Amino acid sequence: MNSIINNLIKTKSPDELIATSKKTELKKTLNILDLIVIGIGAVVGTGIFTVIGVAVAGGPEGPGAGPAIVVSMLLAVVACVFSALCYSEIAAMIPVAGSAYTYTYATLGEFAAWMVGWILMLEYAIGNITVASAWTGYLTQLLRGFKDVLPDFITHFPIWLRMDYRSITVMCEKFGMDTHDKMPYLFGHIPVAVNLPSVAVVVLLTVLLVKGVKESTRFASVMVALNLVIICSFIVVGSFYVKPENWTPFAPNGFEGVFMGAFLIFFAYIGFDAISTTAEETENPQRDLPIGILGTLAICTILYIGVALVLTGTVPFTAIDTQAPIAHAMSYIGKDWFAGLISTGALAGLTSVLLIYQLGTTRILYAMSRDRFLPKSLRVIHKKYRTPHVLTWIAGGIVIFCALFMDLNISAELCNFGTFTSFIIICIALLILRKTEPNRPRPFKVPFSPVFPILGILSCGGLMFYSMKFLTTSSIYFPLWLLIGLIIYVAYGYKQKRLEENSKS
Ligand code: ALA
Repeated sequence: MNSIINNLIKTKSPDELIATSKKTELKKTLNILDLIVIGIGAVVGTGIFTVIGVAVAGGPEGPGAGPAIVVSMLLAVVACVFSALCYSEIAAMIPVAGSAYTYTYATLGEFAAWMVGWILMLEYAIGNITVASAWTGYLTQLLRGFKDVLPDFITHFPIWLRMDYRSITVMCEKFGMDTHDKMPYLFGHIPVAVNLPSVAVVVLLTVLLVKGVKESTRFASVMVALNLVIICSFIVVGSFYVKPENWTPFAPNGFEGVFMGAFLIFFAYIGFDAISTTAEETENPQRDLPIGILGTLAICTILYIGVALVLTGTVPFTAIDTQAPIAHAMSYIGKDWFAGLISTGALAGLTSVLLIYQLGTTRILYAMSRDRFLPKSLRVIHKKYRTPHVLTWIAGGIVIFCALFMDLNISAELCNFGTFTSFIIICIALLILRKTEPNRPRPFKVPFSPVFPILGILSCGGLMFYSMKFLTTSSIYFPLWLLIGLIIYVAYGYKQKRLEENSKS
């Protein structure tokens, strides 16, 4: 029994981690600008373009914040800042691929590391399902804007080619329609529904990622630039139409609305940690990782507050659209042409999030496979492009497969649960490393430790547990996900680790 417990808490020393990463076959090509592009590309997407609608107006599982969404945003960013500081210190100290997974290995040991890797899959792979589904929504909306010039089969292509089976049945139930009118049935029994645009975009991005990280970030930088121009124009144009009376009542649903708003809008900030997954491919990680992480968070916070003020100032909060709130705000003030532009910017933003999340999924799986939690054959590197192509295709495959049936809102909530948990673990890891490795050089240090990491744990934990009061479905799925991870570890990972040890001794 004792030996099992010892195995479970066996850590890897930071030196060992750094030595392994030095043998990496990944190319070191990323500079500070690339990191900020990766950061903004991963952060600005579905959260600010879609989720903000429910966070302001409320949804089936909780009240909305109303104009007090700016307070919710500040609450969410406070939770992020403490964790971002911890990420920066650890990433600069142990610049190794794998993010929270790797840091947990260095502090809490083998079992916790596997579980964190498994939880990170919720953030990256399951989060990508939300984004892929939202991508189709914006594409459909954009195409409708061309109804006068494009043929009808393009502007209104069949629902069974752009929605998953579950969403179609939910919609049919809600409006009293027959599913047989909406989907074809193979042999009269097997319903056929596939979200074709999201499958197509994920396949295209997978091909791009196999070709190389540099090529992918170059593509992402074009998407990020377009996205930023559109968001800034929304703030500038919209600010001329702001009516301050729309900001009252400021917090129509009081504390509950503000807190649930903070939980939901947290989704909009997720992604800055993706920067630390590329540590091994960064030219000067010690200097660039902290600047990249904190810089991304600062830029996004300023933009988000601007968007929130303009959105709630132009549209009364009861009239805010929950499907495409930003584009709708422009239609609301009579700027239909601008609503079309917003959809274009949203598509660019969502595309870069998809790209970077898939990059993150692949790099975490790569680090887990290097540690023998996953089969070695999966991490083969492409001879020509020097990227982990098999894992890249697996990461894409997971999104495509799950997007066939998974609900957009549930995947967003699960993504939030996974991210809160990984943030809490990063704060704990920092506290442990300060004790176990006090003399290791730290190019960047979290100020006011242990107060800041403890505040990080409390703020993330508080938001997570409070939301469980409302979110009935995802608060059951989350422990289920943990249970599946536990079973895989017992059945595969634990044994592989012991085989590895025996082969070394
Ligand atoms: N922050 C990312 C988004 O909003 C997940 O799409």
